[in-house]
Amino acid sequence: MTAMIMVSPLTIRTETAADVAARECLLDRCFGEARFLKTCERLREGRLPAEGLALTAADAEGRLVGTLRLWHATVNASHRALLLGPLAVAPELRGAGLGAALMREGLARAEALGHAAVLLVGNAPYYARFGFSTVLTETLSLPGPYERERFLALELVPGALAGASGLVIGTGALLPASYLPAAVAQAA
Ligand SMILES: CC(C)(COP(=O)(O)OP(=O)(O)OC[C@H]1O[C@@H](n2cnc3c(N)ncnc32)[C@H](O)[C@@H]1OP(=O)(O)O)[C@@H](O)C(=O)NCCC(=O)NCCS
Repeated sequence: MTAMIMVSPLTIRTETAADVAARECLLDRCFGEARFLKTCERLREGRLPAEGLALTAADAEGRLVGTLRLWHATVNASHRALLLGPLAVAPELRGAGLGAALMREGLARAEALGHAAVLLVGNAPYYARFGFSTVLTETLSLPGPYERERFLALELVPGALAGASGLVIGTGALLPASYLPAAVAQAA
């Protein structure tokens, strides 16, 4: 697996704790507060992303300019998959291939780590170039509102989602209590 790839003069690497604040600022810029209302957020909240699958893109000065994470999920407790997102690139750098580089690195890492399938909710015309489509999600559902034409899947291992049917839920490791707001941690 490649530890780091260059999209000159940008670098794609594993996210660190020092990236978190800048990543959240970028996501606020790209999606606004509405991002917390998305159904996919219900599968991610309170959980850690899959090991090795939180990516940061940084510019030559070290500023965070792109982010992509993938999360553990299961379909009806019978088929494991990753949930991809959010993917975001700083507005001033869009259209130069950074989004595609993050996608390719994330999918290559996922495959190298032995993951077999990836789900996401996003714009089909963008994600089709990476092989995502609605074909494999016709029998799947998410725990909340979503647009079916935006619910997409890709098999990294052919047949990985064969027979998959039912509700997708998040299964990743829970965030340590130290990550949670004090009130939530006390109630837990
Ligand atoms: C989507 C996003 C990550 C793409 O990043 P990027 O670095 O500009 O992407 P790339 O340079 O690799 O690809 C650019 C291509 O994708 C297309 N594209 C970008 N956003 C798109 C979208 N939402 N729907 C369809 N196509 C899109 C561009 O038109 C361009 O097409 P071309 O190759 O035919 O010229 C970026 O636009 C972004 O952060 N958007 C805001 C957050 C967001 O919408 N995230 C994705 C959730 S669905």
